Amino acid sequence: MSRDARQTRTMQRETKPRFADHLYHPGPDNPFPGIWALQRRLGHAIPHRLGSNEGLDMPHQALRQHFGDVMVEHAYCYGDAEAFGLRQRLVHHYGFELDNLLVDAGCDSLLALTLRATAPAGTTVISSAGTYPTFGYFAKGQGCRLVEVDYQESTSQLAPDLDALARAAHQHRARLVYLANPDNPTGHLHAPDSIECLRRELPKDCWLLLDEAYHDFRDDADHPDFRRALPGVIRCRTLSKAHGLAGLRVGFAIAQPDVIAMLQKVRIHYAVSALSLAAAEVVLDHPEESRRHIQDVMDRREKLAAHFRRLGGNVLDSATNFIGIRLANADLASQVQADLLQEGKLVARAAHPALGHVLRITALEDALVPGRLTRIEQAIDPGQ
Ligand SMILES: Cc1ncc(COP(=O)(O)O)c(C=O)c1O
Repeated sequence: MSRDARQTRTMQRETKPRFADHLYHPGPDNPFPGIWALQRRLGHAIPHRLGSNEGLDMPHQALRQHFGDVMVEHAYCYGDAEAFGLRQRLVHHYGFELDNLLVDAGCDSLLALTLRATAPAGTTVISSAGTYPTFGYFAKGQGCRLVEVDYQESTSQLAPDLDALARAAHQHRARLVYLANPDNPTGHLHAPDSIECLRRELPKDCWLLLDEAYHDFRDDADHPDFRRALPGVIRCRTLSKAHGLAGLRVGFAIAQPDVIAMLQKVRIHYAVSALSLAAAEVVLDHPEESRRHIQDVMDRREKLAAHFRRLGGNVLDSATNFIGIRLANADLASQVQADLLQEGKLVARAAHPALGHVLRITALEDALVPGRLTRIEQAIDPGQ
């Protein structure tokens, strides 16, 4: 590399969040962009797939009987590594730019992909102590140093502490800060201006990884500002929650085109199956169903919250598809969770000691059945 090129790279590093060093070199190039991408580039169909070594001539009788012909047609072939049809629908329904989107196998895969591209082993990443634990699990698995900061806790709220996240990023020269917004398990939502302020306060060479898995359940979800990709920010969404496709693993990232291109360099290109892509397209072609589901979830969430508040429960405001209830302490929450499990009822409790006193209940109709969660009702201390 020439001295000029080295200097340019150094300057870039000072003013922009950084990717892993090796990604600044040419490649790696995906060796299998796939037949769908090739067809688009050539502008015509390739009806004879004689080069991809798929099992196109499989009988699949048992599979056909079990799942039907349509599903089996999606089983034979590798899917579209560029998820073009799905991205087109995301553009059409949500107003994103096509080049700002990258589809992967759920939000979790996007967290792992982002870490892989931006935070090599030995670098430091920051998150809130007790937030969605998969981020920390992936970060540690990759050899990153995970620094966690406390939530901001008061009688009225339990929220990721944005100032503390920014301070820690400076103090530890972090590569990346992770924030779930809305948050899991608290359900807390930080407003857009707070997020913008966090981005401004972070070191210029540090990424903000915004996990927006619960975005669809916020009141302002359709605001046009959310269509924009923000500099220095990688946002991740999922079709697991509002669109009911958790088992099929579909999510997407929203970022600027140069960022998407870097993520593409290390993405597992066929991670999203052809069937999953097809199902996601069908779901997005019927947006009224998801819209109805989202509204129903939000109604149930408020009913559930009102129920426990009437009993004196310390229910956290939530912009998600669940509610969090704070009990007096982690031991009590653990006991209640264990008792419920004995009765065949699973509610969630953060494994992280910092949030062990919070129980998380998904806003399903089942949670509203009288007597279903009596154990929690009994554990509520109205004086808390
Ligand atoms: C904050 C958060 N991010 C990501 C996920 C996982 O999403 P996906 O199913 O798309 O991997 C979850 C699931 O509970 C979550 O709570």
